[in-house]
Parts: sequence; structure tokens; C-alpha cells
Amino acid sequence: MSAVIAPPNATIVDLSPDLESMQDAVVDGLSMSPKSLPAWLFYDARGSELFEAICEQPEYYPTRTELSILRQHGRQIAEALGDGCRLVELGSGADIKAKTLLRILRNPDGYVAIDISGSQLRASALALAREFPRLPITGIVADYGEDSSLPLEESPGDGPLVGFFPGSTIGNMEPHVAESFLTAWAERLSGGGMLIGVDLLKSTERLNAAYNDAAGITEAFNRNMLCHINRELGTDFDLRRFHHRAFFNADMSRVEMHLVSEGEQTVHLAGQPFHFADGESIHTESSCKYSIDSFRELARRAGFMPQAVWTDDQQLFSVHYLRAP
Ligand code: AVI
Repeated sequence: MSAVIAPPNATIVDLSPDLESMQDAVVDGLSMSPKSLPAWLFYDARGSELFEAICEQPEYYPTRTELSILRQHGRQIAEALGDGCRLVELGSGADIKAKTLLRILRNPDGYVAIDISGSQLRASALALAREFPRLPITGIVADYGEDSSLPLEESPGDGPLVGFFPGSTIGNMEPHVAESFLTAWAERLSGGGMLIGVDLLKSTERLNAAYNDAAGITEAFNRNMLCHINRELGTDFDLRRFHHRAFFNADMSRVEMHLVSEGEQTVHLAGQPFHFADGESIHTESSCKYSIDSFRELARRAGFMPQAVWTDDQQLFSVHYLRAP
């Protein structure tokens, strides 16, 4: 077996949630009516790989559109974030966006990556540490939610902290949750700011296609959540008896993903039975879509001061810079 040697400029801190909190989340979610599970349960190593594959699908426009916005408006973005900031990426995933941004920024003072998926975080933090050998890099395996205590101030460097929250992951929170999440981050980043990617409202056809790719990768990603839970918690979900459903709910301005039970069945967790009626679903993800103005308003309510916003020619996606006073 070959050991991976960490470059001297990289530090990894492991604060990953324990199995007990995963079990509590699943029991709570399956006890609700309608049943619902939190989207962070998608991201074991396989889930992270499947998500990367989704980003390559022709129907899934957000990733490539956001990258093109970062590249096209790089100079203005670097100017907005200023000299010598410490970049804190939330849910870092693959390193391509961080790499793009770190190449654009003026003299960044440090880079902190936070992700719940330890395998992916380690791989991308180490790859970035090799590409930017003079940049202090800290990888924190953790949930970056509002309740987590994160050692941000201990990261090397003294530049202002600037959050980087790409991919429209903010859309995976219901708007009231997004608001309290942003409120917590406006405090954590006080004196700096946040660069955040937000997916925009568009036609139902385009949204439905993006979450129902022809190659079936999103379906595999959705079902993998059950595989992850079976492996970690010993549940007995039968993956062949749940199918993927994703659709745009215009009233809620969100794409919803569900796993729908084929026939009646009972799943067991820690000796407790959870019954499914035929056609009953588990709501596994919401992906809220915003207009530029509605998102700026949300950010303002959370205590940020919205600055510039950049979009693509077709107005599919937006990247906002929010100042944290
Ligand atoms: C990570 N997140 C922003 C993605 C989204 O579009 O909501 C997750 C995803 N779910 C299905 N496809 C992609």
C-alpha cells in the first residue's frame, strides 16, 4: 500500500459527525410525514463521485455555467474580493472552482476547505496544496451548518475571511433555513464577505431535464443515499424498490427530488420498523431557484450587504459578492 505524503503547506482537521447523529437524522426523517431525509446524506465517497458525474451531464448546466462566469468576470471578482483575503470554501467538493478562483485572486493569504465528505476533501486539499505550494491550506472535514463550531480564526494568515459557496448549494436549504444559515455566516465572516453561486429561475422544461438526465446519473445519485444509509446504519432498504422522481414545483420555486416506494414495504432501523405505502415517497432534496432580486433581498435580511452580481448571457446562473459588515 502506498502512503500519501501531505505537502508541508496542508493541514487536515477531522470534525466529521458521528454515526449517532446520522442515525438520529434518519430516524427523525423517516418518522416525519411526509418522509424526508437531509441532502447531506447523499455524500459518501460514491455519492461525491456521482455528483461530479452529474456536473458533466449535458442537461446539468449549473456547474459549467458558474465556471464560465468565474472565468469571464475573473478580474472584477478579484477586485471585489480585494488583496490578501483568506478564502473559506463551503462544501468544497472537487477542486476545479477553487483552483479557478485561486488563480484569479490577488495574493490570497490562505485557503480553508470545509466538506462533510472526508475522502473528497482530502484529495482536493492535497491537490491544491501541490498546485499552490506557498499558500497555507487547511481542510476541515465537518458540517458547515450554522450550529457547527469551526476553527476558522485558527487557520494560518490574517487577511479578511471571504466565504466561497459555489454551485447553488444554498438552494438545497429552504429559504428560511438559508436565511438563518447566511446570518450565522455573515457573523463568522465579519469584516470580509462571501462569493456565492445561486441558480436562477427558468423554464420548467429546462429544470426538469437538469434533474432527470438521460444517462440516469441523477437517479443513481438519489438512490445511492439509501445505499449509504444501509452501509453505515445497517438498515435494509431494498434499492430495487425505490425509484427516482424529480420535478419543478413552481409554487415553491424549487426542484424536488424524491425516492418513491414501489409497493408496500417496511424498512428497519435499530429495531424500529418504518412502513411505506405503495407510491409513498421520501423527499431527499429541494433545490430552490431564485431571481437575482429575491436572492439579494434574502442576503440583506441575513445581514450581508449585496455588492456586485455576475451572470451568463442566458441568465441561467448568478454569482453574487456579499459584503459582511
Ligand atoms: C449540490 N446541489 C447544489 C445540487 C443541486 O443542483 O441542487 C445537487 C444535485 N441534485 C441533483 N442534481 C444535482
